[in-house]
Amino acid sequence: MQPTRELIGSSQPDEVCTKQMRAIVQDEYGSADVLELRTVNRPEVAENEVLIEVHAAGVDRGVWHLMTGLPYLVRLAGFGIIKPKNPVLGLDVSGRVVAIGGEVTRFRPGDEVFGIGKGSYAHYVAADENKLAKKPTNATFEQAAVAAVSGITALEALTDVGRLQADQRVLIVGASGGVGTFAVQLAHALGAQVTAVSGPHMADTVRSIGADHVLDYTREDFAHGETRYDLILDIGGRNSISRLRSVLTSKGTLVIVGGEGGNRVTGGSGRQVRAMMLSPFIGQRLTTFISSLHYTNIERLADHIESGAVVPTIGRRFDLADVPSAIRHLESANSSGKSVIVVRAAPANSHA
Ligand SMILES: NC(=O)c1ccc[n+]([C@@H]2O[C@H](COP(=O)([O-])OP(=O)(O)OC[C@H]3O[C@@H](n4cnc5c(N)ncnc54)[C@H](OP(=O)(O)O)[C@@H]3O)[C@@H](O)[C@H]2O)c1
Repeated sequence: MQPTRELIGSSQPDEVCTKQMRAIVQDEYGSADVLELRTVNRPEVAENEVLIEVHAAGVDRGVWHLMTGLPYLVRLAGFGIIKPKNPVLGLDVSGRVVAIGGEVTRFRPGDEVFGIGKGSYAHYVAADENKLAKKPTNATFEQAAVAAVSGITALEALTDVGRLQADQRVLIVGASGGVGTFAVQLAHALGAQVTAVSGPHMADTVRSIGADHVLDYTREDFAHGETRYDLILDIGGRNSISRLRSVLTSKGTLVIVGGEGGNRVTGGSGRQVRAMMLSPFIGQRLTTFISSLHYTNIERLADHIESGAVVPTIGRRFDLADVPSAIRHLESANSSGKSVIVVRAAPANSHA
C-alpha cells in the first residue's frame, strides 16, 4: 500500500494546518432543518480516491433523497438504515485536486475536476477517481458543478437507453429542471426534433437552449396533440404510462427517468415496475434505468460541454451556509436548471 501523495497547498491555510474544514452535516434523516454548518475533520482519502478542494457543488433531487432518507429504498441501498452513514451532504462537485491516494493514476494534484464526491457541501471532499473527469476548459467551476449527475442521466437516457437517431421526434416531459435542461440541449445537438414540456414562465428558457416546440404543462396537454414521438423522456410530472404511450409511435421508446412523490417505501418507482412488466407484450419499448456515474460517461458529457453544444443551466446561487435554503428552493420548484452552492470564489486565473 502506498501512502497518500499530497503535493500542493490550499487556499484555506488554517484548514490545512488543523486538518479540519467547514461542512454541511446531518446527524439524522429529515427536512432541511436537520442540516448544520459545522467544523469537522477533513476526509481521509482511500487508495483509489482524490481529495478535492471544493469550488462549487450542485443541488439535485438525489441530495434531497439522501437528506430525507426517503423513500426507504434509499436507506436499503446502503446509505444508512437509521441515520446517514456519511453525515456530510452533497454529490455533484467541481474543484481542484489537492491530494491523491496511492493507486490513483488519472489525476495529479492541481488538476481541475468535476464529478461525484462523497459529501460535496464542504470545503474538501474525497472522491473515487472513477467518478471524476477533467473540468472542460470552457466551463466555469459553477457550470461544471451542476453537470455530472443530471448531465449523465440525460445523456444515457437519450443515447444508451433511448437509442435516439438524428431527425427523430423526442418529447421531453420535465424539460426545465436539472435533467431536462441537459436533455433538451443534448437531443438538439444529436439532431432530433425536440418538443419540451415545462412549467409556466419557462418557455423562453427552454426554447433558448434548443427546443423546437414548448408546451406549458399548466395550460397545454401533450396527450391532446396529433404528433407522435419516436422517443419520450419522462423526467417530471409522473404522467400515467397510458397517457405517455398514447403519443408514442407504434415502435417508439418510453424512458422513465424519474418522477417524485409516491409512498414512503418505494417512492415513485411503481410506474417503472409496471412499464417494464408491460413492455415485452407490446410493440412499444417501455424502459427505465439508473444512471452510471462512471467517468467514461462523465467524459462523454464533458466532450459535449467542451464543443459548446451543452452549456449547463444554473438556476440560483447559494453560499455553503445557505444549503438549507437551496434545498427548500428545490422543494418549492419553479426554477430552471440546477442551483449551485458556491464554496470558494474562483481563482483569478481560472475560467470561472
Ligand atoms: N434514473 C436516474 O438515474 C435518475 C438520475 C437523476 C435524477 N433522476 C430523477 O429524475 C427526476 C427529475 O430530476 P431533476 O433533477 O431533473 O428534477 P427537477 O430539477 O426538479 O426537474 C423536474 C422538472 O419536472 C417539471 N414538472 C413538474 N411537474 C410536471 C408536470 N406535471 N409535467 C411536466 N413537467 C413537470 C418541473 O417543472 P416545475 O419546476 O415547473 O415544477 C421540473 O422542470 C427526479 O425524480 C430524480 O430523482 C433519476
